[in-house]
Amino acid sequence: MRHLITLADVTAADIERIYALTEDLKAKFAEGLREPLLPGRTMALLFEKQSLRTRVSFETCMTHLGGGSILLGDDAGFGKRESIADFTRVLSEMVDVIVVRAKSHATVEEVARYSNASVVNGLTDEAHPCQALADLYTLREHRGSLSGAKLAWVGDGNNVACSLALACARLGMSMSIATPPGYELDERFLAKFKEDLAGVDLLQTHDPREAVAGAAAVYTDVWASMGQEAEEQQRRLDFADYQVNTKLMSTASDDALFMHCLPAKRGEEVSADVIDGPSSIVVPQAANRMHVQKGILVWLLGGQGLE
Ligand code: CP
Ligand code: NVA
Repeated sequence: MRHLITLADVTAADIERIYALTEDLKAKFAEGLREPLLPGRTMALLFEKQSLRTRVSFETCMTHLGGGSILLGDDAGFGKRESIADFTRVLSEMVDVIVVRAKSHATVEEVARYSNASVVNGLTDEAHPCQALADLYTLREHRGSLSGAKLAWVGDGNNVACSLALACARLGMSMSIATPPGYELDERFLAKFKEDLAGVDLLQTHDPREAVAGAAAVYTDVWASMGQEAEEQQRRLDFADYQVNTKLMSTASDDALFMHCLPAKRGEEVSADVIDGPSSIVVPQAANRMHVQKGILVWLLGGQGLE
């Protein structure tokens, strides 16, 4: 049974397989073809936090692939009405894949422990693997080979940063991370994934200019993630020198791209002229969530007619 809880669950070869499926399905989609590789398969979606991109991209994926999806809302009682074990054992007898966005990473791990169906992490406090896979696919579309290229992260060493570090390790990229003191990548993450991260040239710094120098792309995310609303005021002070703006972008390579997982706060982590400017690829990034997750679903479940 395959799951996608963190990017430690995929090898470089798995990612190449996912990307090959994505490329094929995306090209067919552009020609108006929606290949039904997963007829009769069902996906359940559970969200403990808000979502636009993750929810809509997964639902449209399954529709295009000939399957169905069920968005389980509060009335399903996830984590409230019965144990997660009972909930998952029953649900996974009826569906083929469960996508979970949870407040705590441990919740997604618990679902995977009891599930007879594939489980996909749709974001936790620790990881956002589908995002990172779509991001590096997008960068490759714009840049060609990623091998040896550098991704710069400016901002919080959060869930998205952690997944990007693992994705960079798998795809032979280097990554430079500029955070304010105290907001570096979590020590427990670095220890837990020490072996998976061994292949990545990972620089952590407090200097955004050092991070962006020579980078193929500069990536940022909100200063306060979902669940950190109480810290917003303090974080605005702590991150004041970490905005990605034209001045910072001018110290990167001339053709450096700007990336953001969205949603964004213009005037905080990024200036409007950068996110809405010519170097920004944030919309193709978001659109590729759908295309890459088709590859992920077919990789997880096996496509009809594929070997
Ligand atoms: N980037 C992302 O995961 O967006 P949503 O929170 O809207 O799903
Ligand atoms: N770091 C953000 C990502 C949102 C897609 C959050 O967790 O809220």
